[in-house]
Amino acid sequence: MAYVITTACIDVKDGACVKCWPVDCMYTGGRTLYIHPDECIDCGVCESACPTQAIYEDRRLPAALQPFLAINREFFGPQVSGLGSPGGAADAGATTCDHPVVAAWPAQGASGA
Ligand code: F3S
Repeated sequence: MAYVITTACIDVKDGACVKCWPVDCMYTGGRTLYIHPDECIDCGVCESACPTQAIYEDRRLPAALQPFLAINREFFGPQVSGLGSPGGAADAGATTCDHPVVAAWPAQGASGA
C-alpha cells in the first residue's frame, strides 16, 4: 500500500492526478477514483497534483480517513469491482462501480470527470 484517495475526491473527480502519474495506477469508479495498492509505486506525484487534497500517503492518513486504506484495496476485489490487478487503468477502462462506503456517501461537490 502506498497512496490512498479519500473523501475529497467523491463527486469531484478532478482528474489532475491522472494526468501526472508515471504509472497507470489510478482507476475510475462511479463517484471517485481509487489507487491500486499493488500498482502504486509510491512516487507521491499525485498527492501534490490533487486540488482537493484527497490523496494521502498511507502512513500519513488522518485517523478519520483510515477506512480509505481498506476502501482503496477492496474496490479491486471480487466483492466490489472484480478488477483484480489489471496492470493499468487505461486497459481496464472506467467503471461506474464504487465501494459500498463510497456509494453510500452523501452527495458533495460536482463531478468534473
Ligand atoms: Fe480525485 Fe484529486 Fe484525482 S479530486 S481524481 S484524487 S486530482
